[in-house]
Amino acid sequence: MTQDRFGAPRSGVARIDAEHEQMLAKAREILEGPRISDVAQDPVAALRYFQRHVLLHFDNEEKEMAAVSFPAASRHREEHRRIADFVASLSVEIVTKGLEPDALSEGIDRLCVWLVAHIQGADRELCGFLRLSRSGYRQP
Ligand SMILES: [Fe+2]
Ligand SMILES: [Fe+2]
Repeated sequence: MTQDRFGAPRSGVARIDAEHEQMLAKAREILEGPRISDVAQDPVAALRYFQRHVLLHFDNEEKEMAAVSFPAASRHREEHRRIADFVASLSVEIVTKGLEPDALSEGIDRLCVWLVAHIQGADRELCGFLRLSRSGYRQP
């Protein structure tokens, strides 16, 4: 599969795919667009802007998992938690260590690589289950 680091792989559930696109677009906006100036001026605000979208997306997926009793929900939630912890630790580093804009950009870049790997693995598994659930398929 070819894609740049901001390209969201397709998972097969339109609403979730749209959120992935939007989430990674926010990262692109911070790193390459007009918000790069916000990173220099207010890195905490720039990171919170991205963090909001990541956490909202995780919350939406977790509601979907609960609605269909997804069997791998706890492993999936744990992956979300580790990614969310990483975002939170970036915030702490900015505040306590005065993280430079370059270091913050590098952190967001690493986060995007991690998010794409999560989408290709855990999210694809979830979306496969959601499609089966919606088709009415019942495991024997
Ligand atoms: Fe997920
Ligand atoms: Fe996701």
